[in-house]
Amino acid sequence: MPISIGVVGAGQFAGQFSTLFKLHPGVSRVYVTDLLPERAEELKELQDLDGTFSDFDAMLASDVDAVAIFTQRWTHGPLVVKALRAGKHVYSAVPMAISEDEIAAIIEAVRETGLTYMMGETSYYNPATVFARKQLAEGKFGRVFYAEGDYVHDMDLGFYAAYEYSGGAEWKRTASYPPMLYPTHSIGGVLGALPTHAVSVSCIGVHDDRGDGVFDRETSMFANDFSNATALFELAGGGSMRINEMRRVGYPSHIRESRFRFFGTEGSFEQLAEVSVWQNKEGVEDVSALLATDATMDADDPALAHVAPELRNAFVSGHSAVHDVSRLPESFLGAPDGHEGSHHFLADDFVTAVNNRVLPPVNAWVAARFTLPGIIAHQSALQGGERLVVPDFGDAPGPVGTSNLSDAKGTAR
Ligand SMILES: NC(=O)c1ccc[n+]([C@@H]2O[C@H](COP(=O)([O-])OP(=O)(O)OC[C@H]3O[C@@H](n4cnc5c(N)ncnc54)[C@H](O)[C@@H]3O)[C@@H](O)[C@H]2O)c1
Repeated sequence: MPISIGVVGAGQFAGQFSTLFKLHPGVSRVYVTDLLPERAEELKELQDLDGTFSDFDAMLASDVDAVAIFTQRWTHGPLVVKALRAGKHVYSAVPMAISEDEIAAIIEAVRETGLTYMMGETSYYNPATVFARKQLAEGKFGRVFYAEGDYVHDMDLGFYAAYEYSGGAEWKRTASYPPMLYPTHSIGGVLGALPTHAVSVSCIGVHDDRGDGVFDRETSMFANDFSNATALFELAGGGSMRINEMRRVGYPSHIRESRFRFFGTEGSFEQLAEVSVWQNKEGVEDVSALLATDATMDADDPALAHVAPELRNAFVSGHSAVHDVSRLPESFLGAPDGHEGSHHFLADDFVTAVNNRVLPPVNAWVAARFTLPGIIAHQSALQGGERLVVPDFGDAPGPVGTSNLSDAKGTAR
């Protein structure tokens, strides 16, 4: 039976998904709520949604089957747990949470309720990650022993305006959000391809020197002054992963926000802003065209939406040749997409997981492995790069596409 979904937070990003949920044949109704009721009302009118709720609690008290959380990045953990405990399936924008305790509470709630939790990690369907998954499955990498993931989004390219919209008069307090607490686009792109996880980390943070009051420890609600950070992780089973989270960087973030490199004993993959290559011991193959997405969409990152239109047009969306679009509902044909063709897949993953009561690819256990390493990396940076152990919550209780209720104490819905 189709499900109903309540969208929480009608800011810059939510509309990209409410429109897809509304189009999905597995969804009956879509509602919205926001602390600023006019934002919820505006989104409802714009997308002809089925209604608004006065607040999050009213939505949880209603009969909606699921909620999709698109609130500010440091707010997700407690909202997710509250929704699961109220009996709702949960889709959460990234990151999963900002502390190990919050992550543990989400995993516990998923186990106990047997409900679906999914984190909407766009890098999981980044063409480079999809391509690396395929090459790995076909044995073309051999053993991957080193990989890199970078999320390179400069503050000057839209983030100032995005944080002002998001944070109001207090925006400088929140614009200092620590880069390594938003690690999922980089880590998720690497670990979305490699079936392993981080076990230890050493991270170096770069103290900001712009002097504009952002990344100022006194002003920051996170007491943070790192604007760039680089972490080297040891991976389970051997090998390493180098992650960059950069907010002050001379890089065309409107062309590429996330970039990846994978090195295996038999083959390797390397990505620049506009060029991607597959390499092995024989030579180099330019796979840029294979990974390119249609440049027909406007900016799909709310932050980049503030970038000048002439730059924005270069930002690409739509599907690439490596995406398996045959699995998507026909109703998504021509629908807005974003983040290199990932939005359609994420919306479909969630609806399919709830309706079929199966584990989505980025379930709570996978989301923890994409998120917690960054939290520990930030702690390492605060301790001058000390190498720290990255705790692990283990594998999901079954492969993707199977029931996640096998070892749950709760009742299946
Ligand atoms: N590539 C990606 O996956 C990607 C890209 C952009 C944003 N995001 C994520 O999406 C989320 C939303 O980003 P955004 O730019 O739209 O933020 P935003 O600040 O523009 O919007 C957040 C909205 O949530 C509302 N809100 C906050 N707490 C609420 C509550 N308790 N109940 C109801 N409404 C509440 C706020 O009033 C605001 O309108 C963030 O977590 C961000 O990390 C992910």
